[in-house]
Amino acid sequence: MDYTAQSHSTVLIVDDTPENIQILIGLLSADYRVKAANNGKKALEIAASTPPPDLILLDVMMPEMDGFEVCQKLKDNPDTAKIPVIFITAKTEIADEKQGFELGAVDYIAKPFSPPIVKTRVRSQLALYEQSKHLEELVKQRTREIEETRLSIIQRLGRAAEYKDNETGMHVIRMACYTKLLAEKISEDSEWVELLYNAAPMHDIGKIGIPDNILCKPGKLDKDEWQVMMTHAAIGGEILGQDNSPLLKLAVEVAINHHEKYNGQGYPNGLAGESIPLSARIVAIADVFDALTSERPYKKAWAIEDAVNLIKEESGKHFDPDLVPLFLECMPEILKIKTLYGDKGN
Ligand SMILES: [Fe+2]
Ligand SMILES: [Fe+2]
Repeated sequence: MDYTAQSHSTVLIVDDTPENIQILIGLLSADYRVKAANNGKKALEIAASTPPPDLILLDVMMPEMDGFEVCQKLKDNPDTAKIPVIFITAKTEIADEKQGFELGAVDYIAKPFSPPIVKTRVRSQLALYEQSKHLEELVKQRTREIEETRLSIIQRLGRAAEYKDNETGMHVIRMACYTKLLAEKISEDSEWVELLYNAAPMHDIGKIGIPDNILCKPGKLDKDEWQVMMTHAAIGGEILGQDNSPLLKLAVEVAINHHEKYNGQGYPNGLAGESIPLSARIVAIADVFDALTSERPYKKAWAIEDAVNLIKEESGKHFDPDLVPLFLECMPEILKIKTLYGDKGN
């Protein structure tokens, strides 16, 4: 049942007595959109429909499902839990009131109705609910903004590092995409996959701390220079710091461990096998594959076939042997990404 009204708020009236419904409609329909249900089951249905009511006036004494049970069910369902409930009752015993408030009701209205009381209580509860919804929306929006800003700063940091030794900065975009494809194969935790996708571009952030004469040296690095170069993993961890955000924590894990090798021959800590975090084992394959198949000032791009062969050869040595076949399965998508985000023309 729908009754025309001026306000955008919807009030649901639940009462098994038609006269009570009529009286309440008479009192409220000039100001609100009003819906009515004559039993608990119907009330729960309407409460869960879209758009949900903004307030429920709930009779306590009803056959089959009484008001307390309806209230309990409303509070148990996350979709309806926040809708304010005002109990309507002829019974004014203290025990009942206590039970109602314990169930999460915001107010009581006693029968027979006093029109000004009904109107005032409905108005004030709706105002409170409006306000809390507004505040909740504001908090959500601010949180979203902060998350977006953080993500964007982090991605830009990753690109900044890449610009130092790779003119286009496309490497981080491609390797992050490869990382995501591989992560999706091994993990069903889509939230973690998304975090890793966003953390991967920062793997070489520590290169910011490597002197240009080493980082941009056209020829091979000598032993000492190589020692300096290897510090980029630890520097990356330091730059990203000890933030509590899951994204930055994962980014630190990746930055520090992306040069570890499955056989323990990597750096900086010589970790082996599964003691290397899964995130870093995934990124290692994605990173090396893209580095091999991209042109750099000191080398030509490898053919896909050659890069694939190297990845296979290094299975169990540099790379996790469980991940290698999964990475190879992703090859059709990887090649699409490679074409889409090519270095040339960017
Ligand atoms: Fe690196
Ligand atoms: Fe890289």
